[in-house]
Amino acid sequence: MQKRALGRSGISIAPLVLGGNVFGFTADEPTSFAILDAFMDEGFSCIDTADSYSAWVPGHTGGESETMIGRWLKARGRRDEVVIATKVAMWATRPGLSAANIKAAVEDSLKRLQTDYIDVYQSHRDDNTVPQEETARAYGDLVAEGKVRAIGASNFDADRLTSARTVAADLGLPRYETLQPLYNLFDREGFEAELAGACRDQEIAVIPYYGLASGFLTGKYRSEADFGKSVRGRGMGKYLNDRGLKILAALDEVAAGLGATDAQVALAWLMTKITAPIASATSVEQLKDIAGAARLSLSSEAVAKLDAASA
Ligand SMILES: NC(=O)c1ccc[n+]([C@@H]2O[C@H](COP(=O)([O-])OP(=O)(O)OC[C@H]3O[C@@H](n4cnc5c(N)ncnc54)[C@H](OP(=O)(O)O)[C@@H]3O)[C@@H](O)[C@H]2O)c1
Repeated sequence: MQKRALGRSGISIAPLVLGGNVFGFTADEPTSFAILDAFMDEGFSCIDTADSYSAWVPGHTGGESETMIGRWLKARGRRDEVVIATKVAMWATRPGLSAANIKAAVEDSLKRLQTDYIDVYQSHRDDNTVPQEETARAYGDLVAEGKVRAIGASNFDADRLTSARTVAADLGLPRYETLQPLYNLFDREGFEAELAGACRDQEIAVIPYYGLASGFLTGKYRSEADFGKSVRGRGMGKYLNDRGLKILAALDEVAAGLGATDAQVALAWLMTKITAPIASATSVEQLKDIAGAARLSLSSEAVAKLDAASA
C-alpha cells in the first residue's frame, strides 16, 4: 500500500486512519483489541483518539479511549509500528490551548496511552482566547522534549490555520502538519470552500473525520425504520433526505460496478481528495470492510459521478 506523507513531518501512513471514539463507547475491550489487531494486520498504522473520548457516554469521564489504546499497546508491544494521533482542548477537564493546559494534558495522555511519546498531537479545536504564539511555544517545547513528534489542528478555519503557520514560522517553531476537518461525501462545503486550498498551498496533510458520516454512507440507513440499527442511528435524521438518498444511489451504482461496498467507495472517494480519511469500526467484520477501501481504485468517471450526486 502506497504510504502518504503527513505534511512535512517525516511521518508517512497508509491512507486510512482508525477512529478511536468507539473504544469503550460502542466497542468493549475485547472487541476494541480485536479491531486494533485487525487494523494493524491489514497494513495500517495510524490511530486517532482524543483525551475527551468518550466523556459523552453516561458513566464515563473522558480518557476511556486513550486508556483502552494504552492497554492494547502494552499488551501487544508494537509501539514503534503504531502512529498515535491524539488531541487536547475539547475536554471539560482540560479545556483550551493555553500553555499550562497543553503541558498538563500531554502528561495525562502519555500516562493513559502508556507511552513516552505521541506521534501527532492535535489541537482538537481552535481557542481564540489564547495568543497563537503561546500555543506554538508550548507545542515547540513538547517537540523539543521528544514528547511529541508532530502537531496537527482540528476544526480550524482557513484564516486561523494560516495565521498559526505564520506565527510558527516567525518564531522558528513547529507548524501544524495535519488538519482534521469534517469532510465526507455528504459534508463537503465546510472543507472544500477554503480549507482545501489552504492545505494544498501549505502542504498540510488532511485527515478528515466522519469519513462514513457516522455510518450513513455504508448504506445501512435507508429509512427511519433503520435508525435502530445502532445507537449512532439517532443522528441519521440529518442525512436521510433527497440529497442523502441521491448520494447512496450513486454509491450503490459505483459499488456494484466494482464488486465493492458503499462504505469502501465512500472512503475511496475521500482517498482521491485528501491524505487519509478517519473511520471507525465496531467489529472486525466492519474493519475488514473499510480496510478494503485502500485497495479500491476509482475511475475518474466514478469520481465524477459521486461528485455530481453530492454536489
Ligand atoms: N476532530 C473531531 O472533532 C472529531 C469529531 C468526530 C470524530 N472524530 C474522529 O473520527 C473518527 C470517526 O468518526 P465516527 O466513528 O464518529 O464516524 P464514521 O467513521 O463516519 O462512522 C463509523 C461508524 O459507522 C459504522 N460502520 C463502520 N463500518 C461499517 C460497515 N462496514 N458496515 C456498517 N457499519 C459500519 C460503525 O458504527 P455502528 O456499528 O455503531 O453503526 C462505525 O463506528 C472518530 O473515531 C474520531 O477519531 C473527530
